[in-house]
Amino acid sequence: MAAKRLDGQQLSQTIRGEIANAVKQLAHSSGIIPGLAAVLVGDNPASEVYVRNKRRACESVGIASWLHRLPASTTQAELLNLIEQLNQTPEVSGILVQLPLPKHIDEAKVILAINPLKDVDAFHPENLGLLTAGHPRYLPCTPFGVQQMLSRSGISTAGANVVILGRSNIVGKPMSLILMQKPSTHFPEAGDATVTVVHRGTRSLEKVCQSADVLIAAIGVAHFVKPEMVRLGATVIDVGINSVGGKIVGDVDPSVAEVAEWLSPVPGGVGPMTITMLLYNTLRAAQLLRSQTE
Ligand code: GUN
Repeated sequence: MAAKRLDGQQLSQTIRGEIANAVKQLAHSSGIIPGLAAVLVGDNPASEVYVRNKRRACESVGIASWLHRLPASTTQAELLNLIEQLNQTPEVSGILVQLPLPKHIDEAKVILAINPLKDVDAFHPENLGLLTAGHPRYLPCTPFGVQQMLSRSGISTAGANVVILGRSNIVGKPMSLILMQKPSTHFPEAGDATVTVVHRGTRSLEKVCQSADVLIAAIGVAHFVKPEMVRLGATVIDVGINSVGGKIVGDVDPSVAEVAEWLSPVPGGVGPMTITMLLYNTLRAAQLLRSQTE
């Protein structure tokens, strides 16, 4: 059996079309153009690529974007000062500080300085708290992209066993919150699944993974997930981005396609969806800021 491919590129095109229409409508009805301020500190080559792709995607749907490029020697106070300026700038609907930051800067302090209404990454503790309470303002972009990929492909997670590999703040932890919660009018994206999060310390990790109807890998270990860890007919979502010999590979071994029914590959799977949901959150931020000033 060769798994059916969950094509994040194609799905992104569809969702970006919807966002572009909504951006046009907002401009028509209120004159507001959503805008994303991206902040890049230092010269991490991967971060450069991510930010460039995010800005290009903004352009493709009519969202304005600005790049604030700061040297690696930037002090924490200087960065906090820039964030405060962006918080006060009405044209800026969303603020994205690309992580990781240089070691001498406290990431938690920087995230805390962003106006939660402009926190389109949904990393601020207020937004994480709202998500945890089941009333999210924004959903973090990568887990949101995975959720959209599943729901728009007709893969229901209600009552399913979902196993998430990895407990990071950016993927594993919020992914578990989105998929475990009960759907409501406040939170229609909630997955209603039985969620297990596995990590380095998990005993019988392979056995737990075998119990998954949906297996989501976000650990950053190249080709960690092997076919013997996957139940026949499972859905496998690869969120890993690992550089091996200059090539980008995921956390899932390609031979998993022989046992899975659905597979989201790397590249071309979750990556484009993450950027698409950032566009969605930036549009929502512009709408929210507008409703606050009316
Ligand atoms: N670094 C890796 N992933 C992300 C992300 O989704 N947002 C930001 N701001 N930085 C990242």
